[in-house]
Amino acid sequence: MRKRVTKAIFPVAGLGTRFLPATKSIPKEIMTLVDRPLIQYAIDEAREAGIKEFIFVTARGKGALEDYFDSAPELEKSLRLKGKTDLLRELRRTDMDSGAIAYIRQREARGLGHAVYCARRLVAPNEPFAVLLPDDVIAGKVGCLKQMVDAYAETGGNMVAVMKVPRKQTSSYGVIDPGQKDGRVIEVKGMVEKPKAEDAPSNMAVIGRYILRPAIFQTLRRLPTGAGGEVQLTDAISAQIETDGVYGYNFAGQRFDCGSKAGYLQATVAFGLGREELHDELRGFLDTVTGVRHAAE
Ligand code: UTP
Repeated sequence: MRKRVTKAIFPVAGLGTRFLPATKSIPKEIMTLVDRPLIQYAIDEAREAGIKEFIFVTARGKGALEDYFDSAPELEKSLRLKGKTDLLRELRRTDMDSGAIAYIRQREARGLGHAVYCARRLVAPNEPFAVLLPDDVIAGKVGCLKQMVDAYAETGGNMVAVMKVPRKQTSSYGVIDPGQKDGRVIEVKGMVEKPKAEDAPSNMAVIGRYILRPAIFQTLRRLPTGAGGEVQLTDAISAQIETDGVYGYNFAGQRFDCGSKAGYLQATVAFGLGREELHDELRGFLDTVTGVRHAAE
């Protein structure tokens, strides 16, 4: 029987420079879509997929993230006394069992691959684990990681979430060289980090959800720095193709790149419109915004 994926790593030690000055004192993962921080969407998705243990790779200045998952007895008491059961329920979603959560420090932002490597001692040999990047927020009927975990039960190996992107955007992603397809599962024959459009082996880009085997840590230990002077996770996964196999999973759902300003704003609008209590007012507002622009033209 293949071992179930019950552990996930959340690398949150990046500097978040695209959101400066906000991210000078607020971790990017605490920025909210409507009223939930980005990290909450990733945690909910992981829980839906059956994840029981959560490892955060953090850095200096990420204290707010640790506080977010702490209990808040005064707040809970006050909500209880006021009978605000809805808010109390919402607050409980942030509860984490004491033993279920671990924080590990990445002392220097040396890249995503290095951040994942920092968690090596918390993963047992032969234990597959998930990696979720909270700035990729994915909306869908079934969470992206749940879809992957279900597919992984059949394929084994390593798995990366992939989606089609316009050719001119390949230089922002890791891109796969696709082999045979079976439904949403695509054999990966090669991977390139941030290729120019003319060098890209396809337009299937890797986004921030992975299921990996611990053998990746040995590769990461030896890996030289790659694109952008960082230790690239893509390079390490690419090295597993010969040994363990790598599959792309073309997930169903809409992904928002909340690590970029445009993606974050789009997600804010989309998730706002998705809320019944906000939909009409926001829709009406967006119509007037368009109206103002047309009037100005
Ligand atoms: P990004 O490439 O988005 O980098 O990282 P960043 O530092 O977060 O943001 P910008 O580009 O400066 O605006 C992708 C993911 O990898 C994590 C980030 O926290 C994010 O979840 N990461 C990146 C680390 O944990 N450590 C690193 O050294 C680099």
